Amino acid sequence: MDLFSPFNLRNLTLKNRVVLSPMQQYSAKNGIPGNWHLVHLGSRAVGGAGLIITECTAVAPKGLATLSDVGIWNEEQKNSWKTIVDFVHEQDAKIAIQLWHSGGKGSLKHPNEGMKPLTPEEGGWTVKSCSAIEMNGVAWQAFTLEEISELKRDFANAAIRAVEAGFDAIEIHAGHGYLFHQFYSAVINKRQDEYGGSLENRIRFLVETVNEIRSVIPEGMPLLVRISAVDYIDTTEGWTLEDSITLSKTLKENGVDFVTASGGGFTNVSKDKVFPGYQVPFAAAIKEQVNIATGAVGMITRADQANEIVASGKADLIIIAREHLRDPYFALHSAKALGVDIEVPWQYKRAFLVYIN
Ligand SMILES: Cc1cc2nc3c(=O)[nH]c(=O)nc-3n(C[C@H](O)[C@H](O)[C@H](O)COP(=O)(O)O)c2cc1C
Repeated sequence: MDLFSPFNLRNLTLKNRVVLSPMQQYSAKNGIPGNWHLVHLGSRAVGGAGLIITECTAVAPKGLATLSDVGIWNEEQKNSWKTIVDFVHEQDAKIAIQLWHSGGKGSLKHPNEGMKPLTPEEGGWTVKSCSAIEMNGVAWQAFTLEEISELKRDFANAAIRAVEAGFDAIEIHAGHGYLFHQFYSAVINKRQDEYGGSLENRIRFLVETVNEIRSVIPEGMPLLVRISAVDYIDTTEGWTLEDSITLSKTLKENGVDFVTASGGGFTNVSKDKVFPGYQVPFAAAIKEQVNIATGAVGMITRADQANEIVASGKADLIIIAREHLRDPYFALHSAKALGVDIEVPWQYKRAFLVYIN
């Protein structure tokens, strides 16, 4: 098994194990992916990645973080996604959509304007989460039980649109301090009802959403979940790897096929905790203890490093974010570095023959 072995999940076969990690581009209007998204995602597919994962894509307008994020809550957005999906497929790559709700981490300005809270005049909204708490000077309100039911329907409707747009897989973004993470981490979740308290209660919203999505997508379509394996908060309330293993077991029992082990989202992670491959042990522990396919992400930048993670069985897929910004052709360059002969787009073949020789 190596980086360029094919990989199967349900009916999906990937030509290799290199994945474009979801990365917000803050370049959309009205949640519609545009030319930038086509070129950003399309060029990584041209660059040889086996799986492209879209940036976090809101399932409802109030699930956006900024007004420049993408969504899939209406037909116009769906139709624009379809153009991108079709292009990625023409490159013999597969594409998953990352479905998402920002919860309390919404209603923010563009990063170029400092990501401060939007005012109502600028289109801002009151942000809601599991609990009414104050975070970074912003008052979050708590979702009612009825609103939680609506959110689950929003995810299911988004999944239906994603299937109609031709996506090959769905990934739920349940990490990085966003809505699902806000529910499952006791640091944020102070609810007194069936969605708060015990770990079983705190993961209930995510598990129920998994079931809603599973019930509307084809049996053969893989369902992926990205979690924060730890939230890097060393208090008794902090989310731990043990908690992630328990969560992943439950996700697997409810039809999830794959877990990406990311981390953090509520605080800045201290520098000593971030080093090449720093989150690989999370993916390895979940894979071993839950017997579920996993993705490794975080400071994986080299072909030999990526290949070793797959070859040693620590993770099934290698999810590359920032290195893919530096090098859209990461997969093709990795194949060359590892001495593997892979297909290049036919339009580029002549140059590549010279390049390889
Ligand atoms: C510009 C940028 C935007 C990101 N947006 C997302 C996102 O939409 N969804 C997500 O799950 N992670 C997002 N991330 C996190 C990355 O997917 C990845 O987990 C992180 O950058 C660590 O991987 P790396 O060391 O390969 O960059 C983003 C990271 C960057 C740099």
